[in-house]
Amino acid sequence: MANLPLRKGGPAARIAVIPGDGIGKEVIPEAVKVLQSVAAQPRRPLEFVEFDWGADRYLRDGVSLPEDAVAMLRDEFDAILFGALGDPRVPSNQHAADILLGLRSKLDLYVNARPVELLQDRFTPLRDRSERDIRMIVFRENTEGLYVGVGGFFKKGTPDEIAVQEDVNSRKGVERIIRYAFEYARQNGLKRVCMSDKSNAMTFAHDLWQRVFKQLRPQYPEIESRHLYIDALAMEMVRDPSQFDVIVTCNLFGDIVSDLGAQLAGGLGLAPSGNIHPGQTSLFEPVHGSAPNIAGKGIANPLGSVLASAMLLDFLGWKSEADAVRSGVKAALRDNYLTPDLGGDKRAVEVGDWLANFVAKAVSAKAKVSP
Ligand SMILES: NC(=O)c1ccc[n+]([C@@H]2O[C@H](COP(=O)([O-])OP(=O)(O)OC[C@H]3O[C@@H](n4cnc5c(N)ncnc54)[C@H](O)[C@@H]3O)[C@@H](O)[C@H]2O)c1
Repeated sequence: MANLPLRKGGPAARIAVIPGDGIGKEVIPEAVKVLQSVAAQPRRPLEFVEFDWGADRYLRDGVSLPEDAVAMLRDEFDAILFGALGDPRVPSNQHAADILLGLRSKLDLYVNARPVELLQDRFTPLRDRSERDIRMIVFRENTEGLYVGVGGFFKKGTPDEIAVQEDVNSRKGVERIIRYAFEYARQNGLKRVCMSDKSNAMTFAHDLWQRVFKQLRPQYPEIESRHLYIDALAMEMVRDPSQFDVIVTCNLFGDIVSDLGAQLAGGLGLAPSGNIHPGQTSLFEPVHGSAPNIAGKGIANPLGSVLASAMLLDFLGWKSEADAVRSGVKAALRDNYLTPDLGGDKRAVEVGDWLANFVAKAVSAKAKVSP
């Protein structure tokens, strides 16, 4: 993962930690442990404040996202490290909608950045593909589209029922995510941007995506920009992933193709993501959910959360520390120091301890070289 625009780039940072539900409570402490290795350096103070928002609190006192939470996070924190939400005791998933979708929309985190990076050849299910071939980033529009919750039922529960869900696309919303993708490519020396939509069938909403894309492309003449319909994109990502550097698409399609990408790069346990508003408090999380089927067993893979914390460090402008965390993850993959989902026999806590130790050594060696 390359540079992301910075929040403050200052020497100290405050991190809000929201482990959430299920395995979120098992993997986030491991990511914090790794970040604490970074914070042990005098130049890199990090302060962590944990919040217990999730199913337990919601069931206990009815609070999902407290009223003052958004203003507090925006004003008092640089970034948020988030686990996952979802609990079988809350079948409506109301608390998850309030907290995660609430934060994405109220903090206006319009960029969902999902790197798809194969860290070791043996983890891709594709034959004859290597780390060189699978190295892209998906930018998913994160505040609009089919996820805004505009819609309704008519004659619900009857044989004549109608359900409507509106796809909301604003010019401002479409323009800022496509521009972000181009700017990211430019800043990181990436040569190819692919915009994907379904404008052949969604002739209003995605016509807007087409027009905005055509308007912006000439401003980035050094970048080879192309368009693919979303169905073709899904096919091409599997047929030849090496053709992509940057993909930009709408909320729903980005949700789907980034999971496809996660699988190409070794599965959900390894996939990180950032929910970003450049220059403002942003949220970093693993792509996976709360995995109730393995929660409480201590075997959840913490690497997605650890890689999300590397993205958080990128966001703070602490590039060499972010690289040290990614090197640690690569080393764990190389040495098979892994949880069972990746074929290892370690527990989440053991992987976290090993990585924290690796990162502590890497950052202190670096500090000795460049005081
Ligand atoms: N961002 C989020 O908070 C988020 C994202 C997706 C799903 N969810 C919620 O999570 C709950 C479970 O959803 P799901 O089962 O569809 O998806 P999931 O990602 O929780 O699990 C899918 C499968 O992958 C496995 N898995 C996921 N993460 C893993 C990890 N770190 N290590 C090892 N194995 C891992 C699980 O055991 C399961 O078999 C639901 O309530 C859903 O709404 C939340």
